[in-house]
Amino acid sequence: MSLAMDFEAMFGRAPEVEGSAPGRVNVIGEHIDYSEGWVLPYAIGFRTTVAIARRDDSTITVVSLQRPNKRISVASSALTPRASDSWADYVLGVIAELGVAGGFDILVDGNVPTGAGLSSSAALECATAVALNALLGLGNSQQDLALAAQRAENDFVGMPCGIMDQAVSMMAREAHALLLDCKTLDTQHIPLDLASAGLAMLVIDTQAKHALVDGEYAQRRQSCEEAASVLGLSSLRTATLSQLAEARSKMTETQFKRARHAVTEMGRVHAAVDAMRAHEWAELGRLLTQSHESLRDDYTVSCAELDLAVTAAMAVGAFGARMVGGGFGGSAIALTPVGLIPAIESAVKDAYAATGFSSPRFFVATPEAGAYATLLS
Ligand code: GLA
Repeated sequence: MSLAMDFEAMFGRAPEVEGSAPGRVNVIGEHIDYSEGWVLPYAIGFRTTVAIARRDDSTITVVSLQRPNKRISVASSALTPRASDSWADYVLGVIAELGVAGGFDILVDGNVPTGAGLSSSAALECATAVALNALLGLGNSQQDLALAAQRAENDFVGMPCGIMDQAVSMMAREAHALLLDCKTLDTQHIPLDLASAGLAMLVIDTQAKHALVDGEYAQRRQSCEEAASVLGLSSLRTATLSQLAEARSKMTETQFKRARHAVTEMGRVHAAVDAMRAHEWAELGRLLTQSHESLRDDYTVSCAELDLAVTAAMAVGAFGARMVGGGFGGSAIALTPVGLIPAIESAVKDAYAATGFSSPRFFVATPEAGAYATLLS
């Protein structure tokens, strides 16, 4: 059954618009979007779709096909932060941030794994944003919609995320990675055709979800802001390792290590773009693994499951591997010759079984298109 048919069955009339937006992986540039750095994510084939119709009253009703028995209804005058205290806040937050009045019936369907570090929340926000923009003729640019989606998450959901996930979900292009300047929001689409080189990006979803993630995320962000201010900078964007070394005695060891990750990771993003353009895949892999080590040792956002996935993939012969997203669980990626995928999968599975971790899931991620909306009537 199509989502439009489900919508009719649920609400007794046809939807007016559908919006669709993808989850993402990030090749490199982790935990530096909020330091005004550069990131290199791409959209994956898992997507969230929302179907929307306007209502005559001012009630907003949100239902998900993944949780069909839980219907969330909120008056549009009551759109305050955490209005529903549930996943629907991602939808309600976007409505609030777009400044849209009136009532809506909204049906959500999606297959982006939740809690897997693949940005299911950004997919939901961006699908909602792109659909409302088309339905109501708001005329917002993709950048404006990404920023509205980020504000929804920052101010409405209360997660102080950067702009990476919403930007790539909105602006990604099939067969390309997105080089995003997180200060200016300038983008470059970098061709990424791993298959023709006999390679693949294997995603290893560890299935691990560790608690306290949001608090840890906010602390990392704060340490970077503090380190920048010790350097007399507004962000770590232009900081150098020698500046950091000189100022080391004026910072805590934690601030120093967080900033060292940010500065080295920014360098790795530019090197990775060069490697990608030159088809130097072994070099790209090396940068991925260095990124993981920096996230593990200096940024301390990895965890035993992610480290084990990376070690096992590398032992089998992956070119490089690293955690993606916020960390503390979620997914890792491995850049690998296609022929090694079965061996990597069994090596990771065996290592997990031997350690007593839950069984991981695997899929190959190719770069897919960003968000789009379809008017239905
Ligand atoms: C989460 C946030 C992003 C980004 C990553 C880490 O996915 O939503 O803004 O900071 O973590 O790179």
